[in-house]
Amino acid sequence: MISASVDNDPPRHPLGARPVPTPNSTPRPAGSAGWWRDAVIYQVYVRSFLDSTGDGIGDLAGVGAGLPYLKRLGVDGIWLTPFYPSPQHDHGYDVADYHDVDPVYGDLDAFDRLVRDAHRLGLKCLVDIVPNHCSSRYPLFLQALTEGPGGPTRAMFHFASGRGDDGALPPNNWHAMFGGPAWTRVTEPDGTPGEWYLHMFTPEQPDWNWREPTVRGNFEQTLRFWLDRGVDGFRIDVAAGLFKHPDLPDSPDPEADERTRDSVNPLAWNQPEIHEVWRDWRAICEEYTAGDGNDRLLVGEVSVPTAADQARYVRPDELHQAFFFHLLNAPWDAAAFQNVITDALRDIAATGSTITWVLNNHDQVRAVTRYAAPTPSQDADLPDPGGARARAAALLMLALPGAAYVYQGEELGLPEVIDLPDEALTDPIFRRTGSRLRVRDGCRVPLPWSGQASPFGFTAGDAPGRPWLPQPEWFANHTTERAIADTDSFWHLYHEALHLRRNLPQLGEGPLRWLDSPPDVLAFVRGDGLVCAVNFGDRQAPAPVTGTPLLTSRPCPPGILPGNTAAWWICEHCTA
Ligand code: NOJ
Repeated sequence: MISASVDNDPPRHPLGARPVPTPNSTPRPAGSAGWWRDAVIYQVYVRSFLDSTGDGIGDLAGVGAGLPYLKRLGVDGIWLTPFYPSPQHDHGYDVADYHDVDPVYGDLDAFDRLVRDAHRLGLKCLVDIVPNHCSSRYPLFLQALTEGPGGPTRAMFHFASGRGDDGALPPNNWHAMFGGPAWTRVTEPDGTPGEWYLHMFTPEQPDWNWREPTVRGNFEQTLRFWLDRGVDGFRIDVAAGLFKHPDLPDSPDPEADERTRDSVNPLAWNQPEIHEVWRDWRAICEEYTAGDGNDRLLVGEVSVPTAADQARYVRPDELHQAFFFHLLNAPWDAAAFQNVITDALRDIAATGSTITWVLNNHDQVRAVTRYAAPTPSQDADLPDPGGARARAAALLMLALPGAAYVYQGEELGLPEVIDLPDEALTDPIFRRTGSRLRVRDGCRVPLPWSGQASPFGFTAGDAPGRPWLPQPEWFANHTTERAIADTDSFWHLYHEALHLRRNLPQLGEGPLRWLDSPPDVLAFVRGDGLVCAVNFGDRQAPAPVTGTPLLTSRPCPPGILPGNTAAWWICEHCTA
């Protein structure tokens, strides 16, 4: 098990870095108003973080036990994925009660303790809110089923008659995001085949009808429920969803709608009415901020095609932030990274919000594996190209203006577990695509903390239950215990970068200016004198500035930036 002590580690320089310069202004406090603008938030996938009860499933008390570890890592707060009562068809994104804790994860007392402990350590605490859909076991949905057609509760969802003979065909041609049609037909209380209901994800996740005022009112109560318990904000699931075109017309290209997460059905996503909701939610958050000066954050999962589309969600009276997934989706290529960064700087920063960078989350193949594809000129001596690139990407991300989210295990350089046996897979996408897509289990395998064998300290107790997804033997190389002991580890790179970020006034918010660089290299200067350069190529390039780097993702010989490497320098005569 990890050490639970919180220390103030002196700056360490594992990779040939020189001592941290004295900042030329006071370090930015992880304070109250505006704290989110350049915060680094750690995404806790509760189910897989740390299991305090021995049942093989992570829980809130486990998160509490891990807080000192996160404090020591140097993040500013945590985002907890859904822990609400749920049949777990989509691991909590099918909520059966928005105001409670699923017994598998603890109870409300455990939640309150966790928030208190996080705050005591100076960590913010965000919870996930799932407003696009609920669980098919949600009491109001069950009531709608028993009411039958025309019942008032049916209006809170999207029930509609089918087409064709006897209404046997779905009301329109929309596809669900997780495969298959977006409609399921119900059996009416009298036993006859009846109406259809809309679900943009699985049939166990009926979509709410946001044109119905009660739905809106209920969610406002939910916000207040968690705000009253002390949370610092919300990560909003499917924040470009909620409203559907009022006529529910056929999609002109239903196949395209399910091709990628970002090629979204324009009739089911990104409707203009959504912005009124975000204005209302922002006003509620501001009410709480007015009470104590601490901003309550709304960060949206806004999957829309372009940065300009996303910018509309983060106008000053709407969401504070929206995850900028374009960085995560960019291939390991200098031009691709530069394009997405430029788009974000142009479109999102212009709203007054800050960009919210992400390289990993619980829905995506981990960066170490994504970047591992061999390239034609790859150095045969580079043992782990994906790891080298993921380290470089981390230094790049943490040098960009704005906020960042780190997904649990990212700081350990965990690769994706790509060979989970079919029978272990639980992601509904696997089932609903006829076992075609193995997308999301491999990044959700319970974290390794210590030791040489599963459960690697993830599960407490003398006779620990098996982790809910099997951990591979090679997790032994990635335990937090081992990472902390090895000063060359991913963990130390993140730790060092986060501590520098907190202490250097050039990092976090502020200007960025690109520097001229060879085609495979991106180099930019932040504020007065922090230069970051990344070599996306496989061949070494000259370093863009002289002097010893402050921090490097891999060892750098003097004056050289090796392939697949990033570095930060202090450069006194460089200005953004
Ligand atoms: C996005 C969440 O990140 C994902 O895990 C979930 O399955 C879908 N929204 C549906 O709630």
